[in-house]
Amino acid sequence: MCGIIGATANRDVVPILIEGLHRLEYRGYDSAGVAVASESGLNHKKTVGQVSVLEHAVTEAKLSGHCGIGHTRWATHGKPTEINAHPHGSSESLALVHNGIIENHSVLREKLMTHGYVFVSETDTEVIAHLIHFHLTQSPSAEDRLTVIQKALGELEGAYAIAVIFADMADHLFGARMGSPLVVGVSSGEGYLASDPLALLQVTDQMRYLENGDVVVLTPDECTITDLKGKQQVREVERFQHGDQAADKGSYRHFMLKEIFEQPRAIKDTLSDKVGQSRLLDEALGVDGLSMLKDIEQLHIVACGTSFHAGLVAKYWFESKANIAVSVEVASEYRYRDPCVPENCAFLCISQSGETADTLAALRYAKEKEYVTTIGLCNMPGATLVREADIRLLTHAGIEVGVASTKAFTTQLVVLFWLAQVMSKARGHLNKAQELNVVQGLHALPDQVALAGEQSSMIEKLAFDLVDKPHCLFLGRGLHYPVAMEGALKLKEISYIHAEAYPAGELKHGPLALVDEQMPVITVAPDDHLLEKLKSNLQEVSARGGELINFVSKSVSLDETDAKHSIQVEGMEGDLSPIVASIPLQLLAYYVALHKGTDIDRPRNLAKSVTVE
Ligand code: AGP
Repeated sequence: MCGIIGATANRDVVPILIEGLHRLEYRGYDSAGVAVASESGLNHKKTVGQVSVLEHAVTEAKLSGHCGIGHTRWATHGKPTEINAHPHGSSESLALVHNGIIENHSVLREKLMTHGYVFVSETDTEVIAHLIHFHLTQSPSAEDRLTVIQKALGELEGAYAIAVIFADMADHLFGARMGSPLVVGVSSGEGYLASDPLALLQVTDQMRYLENGDVVVLTPDECTITDLKGKQQVREVERFQHGDQAADKGSYRHFMLKEIFEQPRAIKDTLSDKVGQSRLLDEALGVDGLSMLKDIEQLHIVACGTSFHAGLVAKYWFESKANIAVSVEVASEYRYRDPCVPENCAFLCISQSGETADTLAALRYAKEKEYVTTIGLCNMPGATLVREADIRLLTHAGIEVGVASTKAFTTQLVVLFWLAQVMSKARGHLNKAQELNVVQGLHALPDQVALAGEQSSMIEKLAFDLVDKPHCLFLGRGLHYPVAMEGALKLKEISYIHAEAYPAGELKHGPLALVDEQMPVITVAPDDHLLEKLKSNLQEVSARGGELINFVSKSVSLDETDAKHSIQVEGMEGDLSPIVASIPLQLLAYYVALHKGTDIDRPRNLAKSVTVE
């Protein structure tokens, strides 16, 4: 889960590499490095810590060159040290950066050691550098670097995206992809490579998306793409659609806060191609989308983390609105078992990035099975998941930089609700008047989400009460149980407070034993048919002295529960309540983390896009 960048041009590329690494920091941030090729050979700089540390070192060293590569790391093999930081080299003749995991690295390491190669780092990446060098020494024509790289890559097992430069070819930049994402940036007289188009938007929005098995060689004027056997491949240039807005926090202190407050806009944009004035636009499913899905009896939803929670909420909608039986599973489990695929079952995977290794592996696995079709729900138009799923559905949240997902989650929910209603209509469960109701509800949603955000200053104050707590329980019922799970995930990932979510009715079956004066219990209490049941559950908590913090529908009074705080939120009723109820929970996590002083946009040990298993 690292970020890589490369550039070749007729000017100094170091500022481009550094800016790109800043933009890739969301993928990992424990160490970073750059290497450049010039007439004097290869020069590099590596540092431990965030990219700003590297930037300082590079400026001090006056590093410059017309062709170079850069890397921001999230450690998998070996600790975050300068030696383990990328780029890695071999005999000072090449420098290489890598994202992914080489599964047969130990075997290759041993083989290379018998040929006299000495390893200085603990990384699997150094194996690739030496392997390319080994093939270079074996090649009759050292000039044919593409063939040399193809041969080396042919020996690798696992996932990789790499960028390589050579000391004696100072304007050539090589790249390759298998499993991990890599995009080529196209601009007149300059060539770029990066793990994510976001890193290149500073210089171009014209991208060629590489496919698995592609090997590319770039000079300032040329781009050649082949497969691993040397056969030419054509990857059309596509304009990246999100615009260059992500690198800017505006007046917000953190990307996460900016992204929380962007949700009304993100939801509006997501709805723009899916809901008309008075009808649901099922055209968004593509030409044959609806006819493929109309008669399915079951749906398997697979995703990770926050996207998994979106799937759990959607189960309630698909079952109650469209009468489709749904199972929801985390991708890392699904991909390694032998699931029963019943007749008339579709597969839906959800991923903000569309590059999550487990989710992609699950999609590929599902494509081998007897599903009616596969659907990919994603926020990144050019992502691998979008390219590989049969039916593509896009959220238009805009680039999400904060590691803690916020606007991606609520826009996923919007699309999943829309899809459940589209299917309901296609199956004859939604008449014209009901459809109009749904459409009006969706159009009103951005304003309701904005209103929920207005509780921000009250939540900021109450967050002080959680700062010193080591643990926290989240409770919800029905489709607000996954909302509570998402609230707990948000809190734990950015504030490092241990948080668990339970369906409130489960409390007395075990977790109630944890409740005392030291245990904050955060509840989501919408105005729904489970409210009275939830109230009894809350009584169980307050009777044990638990510190209740309730987010309740404006139309609900929970005074009898002796809550320490009850925050009333408008719009926490009806089908779309899970979307509205998510906002105060995101704000709560944000402010607790802010008061604790953690690195909110880049929490420890995590990365935005988990492109390794
Ligand atoms: C969300 O806050 C997390 N950082 C994480 O759980 C994330 O949702 C998960 O890794 C899945 O990512 P994806 O949606 O890009 O596939």
